[in-house]
Amino acid sequence: MKQLLILAAAALLAVACNQTKAPKVLVLYYSQTQTTKTVAEAIANSLGADIEAILPVVPYDGDFNATIARSQKEAAEGVVCEIKPLSVNVKDYDVIFLGYPIWFGTYAPPVAGLLETVDLTGKKIVPFCTFGSGGLDTSVNDLKAKLPDAEILPGYGVRQARLDAVPAEIDYFLKANGFLVGDFTPLADFSETRPVTEEESAIFDTAVGTYPMISAKATEVASRAVPGGTEYLFTAQDTPRGPMPVAEDAPAHFIKVYVLAEDGKEPVFTQVLR
Ligand SMILES: Cc1cc2nc3c(=O)[nH]c(=O)nc-3n(C[C@H](O)[C@H](O)[C@H](O)COP(=O)(O)O)c2cc1C
Repeated sequence: MKQLLILAAAALLAVACNQTKAPKVLVLYYSQTQTTKTVAEAIANSLGADIEAILPVVPYDGDFNATIARSQKEAAEGVVCEIKPLSVNVKDYDVIFLGYPIWFGTYAPPVAGLLETVDLTGKKIVPFCTFGSGGLDTSVNDLKAKLPDAEILPGYGVRQARLDAVPAEIDYFLKANGFLVGDFTPLADFSETRPVTEEESAIFDTAVGTYPMISAKATEVASRAVPGGTEYLFTAQDTPRGPMPVAEDAPAHFIKVYVLAEDGKEPVFTQVLR
């Protein structure tokens, strides 16, 4: 009887310990030109988490055009990027922040290589990415499809051109999602969507004007107050660009574009959803 009681007490203690044990967090990322690395380090430093880079066996270290050419050839041939073995065991972690640059609308090939070789079953995955214009939404959809047995949590994405915003945005993201304890002011909800005014249309044009890959006209908008200014969520009709001729009767293609207009600054777009 005494032995049974001791066993029961030990079992209860184990349950109690498990409930209070902080989750073990790993920041795992690929970065070709160090942009995503900056975000990975900001997350790891804030959380005091372990951090590890995903390294392709044959690095993508050419220039931009060489990287485009190589990755397009590999995609056409169905080649999965081979990565070096990790120095950590992902089994030791509960939560994995998985970071990558967006390539062709989704996570870069070394992450595809990771997903083929490392078992992430049962893990909580927090995606984060950097991009020229966008790709958080599409890459998260691809991760969910690829990892049905993992829990893909809300992610964070930032344009390469807005790395200055990373410290404040990461602090907000980690607090708002419960990874970091501390005060934060929750953002307001967006307003109802309405047709754009001329003034809002001009804000949109300024925000996307210098970005060569976007050729769009704003049609509708929702907005909300944010610290120091206004955030807009535009719906815009996009004219597809590329080497292929576009049929005259091709259906209109609509994109969503987040724009931040801070008091006294030029409006900038922060993310495109395609
Ligand atoms: C091969 C290649 C494809 C890319 N495709 C996209 C894309 O589809 N959409 C986008 O917004 N940015 C795209 N980019 C831009 C990168 O996502 C961006 O520069 C990123 O911040 C680089 O991160 P890194 O410095 O960590 O490598 C691409 C870059 C490369 C090299």
